[in-house]
Amino acid sequence: MVTTQRTKEICQIIRLKSTQVFLVAGTCLVTVMVTLLCISFMTRYEVENEVANVADVDYWRDKVAPSQKIWYDKGIDELNEALRPMDSTYPRSVRIFVVQGIDGRDLAAFRFPTKDSQGSSNFVWDHFPHLARLENSCSQQVPCQVASVSRTLWSGIPLDKVPESQEDCGRVFNATQAPISILRQAQLAGLRTGFVTTQRLTGSTGAALGNTNGNFECDERMPLSSIRSGCKDIAHQLMSGETVQALNVLIGGGRQMLSSLVPKTKYDPVDELLCESNDGRNLLKDWRTQKLRESKVKPIVFDLIQRTDELESLNASSFDYLMGVMANGDLSGNSKAPSLTLMVQKSLKVLNKYQQGYLLIVEQFIASNMNKREQLQLLNDTLANLHEAQDTLTLLLMTNAIYPKASLDVSEETEAISLLAGIFNEAESEIQKRLHQIPSESLLFAQGE
Ligand SMILES: *[C@@H]1O[C@H](CO)[C@@H](O)[C@H](O)[C@H]1NC(C)=O
Ligand SMILES: *[C@@H]1O[C@H](CO)[C@@H](O)[C@H](O)[C@H]1NC(C)=O
Ligand SMILES: *[C@@H]1O[C@H](CO)[C@@H](O)[C@H](O)[C@H]1NC(C)=O
Repeated sequence: MVTTQRTKEICQIIRLKSTQVFLVAGTCLVTVMVTLLCISFMTRYEVENEVANVADVDYWRDKVAPSQKIWYDKGIDELNEALRPMDSTYPRSVRIFVVQGIDGRDLAAFRFPTKDSQGSSNFVWDHFPHLARLENSCSQQVPCQVASVSRTLWSGIPLDKVPESQEDCGRVFNATQAPISILRQAQLAGLRTGFVTTQRLTGSTGAALGNTNGNFECDERMPLSSIRSGCKDIAHQLMSGETVQALNVLIGGGRQMLSSLVPKTKYDPVDELLCESNDGRNLLKDWRTQKLRESKVKPIVFDLIQRTDELESLNASSFDYLMGVMANGDLSGNSKAPSLTLMVQKSLKVLNKYQQGYLLIVEQFIASNMNKREQLQLLNDTLANLHEAQDTLTLLLMTNAIYPKASLDVSEETEAISLLAGIFNEAESEIQKRLHQIPSESLLFAQGE
């Protein structure tokens, strides 16, 4: 009796155990199957999506015509470069080039050689491993002003959060709440900083980088009521602001906004279309005075230059601060203005003085009446002359600086594509109009790590 009872108990335990064993085995089996499935999915996924090993791609081994092989070779080289594993360290220094006035269509057009330029027409940035496409539309605000878009871009805030300019500055805006630009952020993080532009310093990019407010570049045409209520124009805010005071390099145009008395020459006339100061200011002299005062506290090397030959002969690597005002208006208005290449080279020398990290922002302003191909060639030369620097990220943003209104939003592009069949039955002029209304995009090229 005891034995039977005991056997029963043992049997029960074993049954329980065997159920457990089954459960465990089952789970294991399912896991293994799932894993196998996953692995095969992953393998398929990688083969389909990543071209893990370029040599394995079937079409690569196809015999193609020599003319086709050129494109195949180029395409595979570019893929290899883009898929090269990156380490995730941060760059020490950053150079940002912004080209205002060029979009994807221009780039596509100018990639092909003209009759007299033979051979490869590749630009330096065509070899950059990374490319992003950004839509130029700002549907949150009408009309979309370049000044607001600049502030959005350089302060990293949504367009509808850009502080509105006020006619009445009596209500002092709260400086602690105002967003600060990437340039100021870099200064606060201990980097050396520089801004170089072929436009006037008080243009939309300079104004945004210098954390200024309002729309008046200088005192001319600024309403008396605004001045009385304590508003300051952009030139004034820029030069007295902490960002520009701490900038190591600042080179551009805009003398006529910074000083009421400027030399007028045949090669560098005053630009009648731009703001002209007439309140007797000389903000350049003020900058020099301020730096002199600073130099009494700690030894600094600084200079203010206004001519190309001064910039050429400058031993830039010995400077702490360099201010260059090279034209009355935009640099394109001065036939003796320095080249972009010279300005960038000298700036980098100043920024590299202590071999610490830096942020350099370079703006090339291409007005609609300028020769775009020539300008791109200049940019190409400038970038080709940059030294390969370690731990340095180079960004190149090309934008046509046209930001369409809400009615011409991105959705129009999608809509236009879905209606293509119908659209092509329209008159030629209608089609042209539609194509022009589609927002163009900005392109961002990146190289370095
Ligand atoms: C751009 O510069 C590179 C390097 O100097 C050169 O090989 C290339 O031909 C230039 N491209 C154009 C379009 O000038
Ligand atoms: C500015 O904003 C801060 C934070 O919101 C607030 O504490 C301060 O009182 C404000 N200053 C003025 C002058 O409004
Ligand atoms: C330029 O400045 C650097 C640093 O101050 C100095 O070492 C160098 O000798 C200078 N070069 C010339 C040509 O004066």
